[in-house]
Amino acid sequence: MSKKLIIANWKANPPTLHDALELARNIERAASAHRRVEVIVAPPFPFLAEVASVLKRAKRASQNTFWGDVGPYTGEVSWRQLKSLNVTHVIVGHSERRMLLGETDEMVNKKVQALLEHGLIPILCVGERERSGGEMPEDAAQQLKSALAGVKKVLVKNLIIAYEPVWAISTAPGSSPDTPESVFRAHVYIKKVIAGLFGRPVAERVKIIYGGSVNAHNILSFLIDGHMHGALVGGASLNAEEFAGMIKIASSQSLPLINRSRYRHGCP
Ligand code: 13P
Repeated sequence: MSKKLIIANWKANPPTLHDALELARNIERAASAHRRVEVIVAPPFPFLAEVASVLKRAKRASQNTFWGDVGPYTGEVSWRQLKSLNVTHVIVGHSERRMLLGETDEMVNKKVQALLEHGLIPILCVGERERSGGEMPEDAAQQLKSALAGVKKVLVKNLIIAYEPVWAISTAPGSSPDTPESVFRAHVYIKKVIAGLFGRPVAERVKIIYGGSVNAHNILSFLIDGHMHGALVGGASLNAEEFAGMIKIASSQSLPLINRSRYRHGCP
């Protein structure tokens, strides 16, 4: 039985170190109380070192990295520096970085490769901008293929893929969460793409999570009906009580087995 992953992406929140430490202490308490779930926290860079010192049970993540080692990269943070803080996971290719900061598929690919090569776990975000109502759209599939180009097959199993449709993120105008059914279709599609690139045994080992307006009320439906291995949580991770509720719910869930025939026939 595999533990569910509940990942807090604080984005550029909260406003002060004091607030960040208080939130981190509360999340750490919840993570210590519910051990059948893997809790991962991604604070903003200025708070990372101090928040990391509070997190013991919960794992430490970063919201970004540079692909190069230490060196002349003004404004960037190297994977080596993250490793020195015992950061284990790094969010890569978040739609806010792609849309607001010009992060390209090529940059995302370099980051994924660097992280995997150096023993960090990328949380690779892919997701379409417009709601399509059908299968996982081609732009999200293309993000996935580009991000995995040239990645060594033996390392792919370490990846976490976050399916995060841009229109479902809580801060998007008129947003609403995706449906568990459509999230399940995305899950199947992502596995199919990975199986096509690296073979089915590898695809079966990659963890796929969902992000986009996840909260304590809807998380269960994504874990059970959406067959997600976990959730990448933005806004609701800033509310300690709500996030603790999500941790508790996730810890009560075992990983549901995918219905194999649905898996085979559900592929687009
Ligand atoms: P929300 O949970 O606020 O929709 O944010 C999702 C997200 O972007 C997490 O990376």
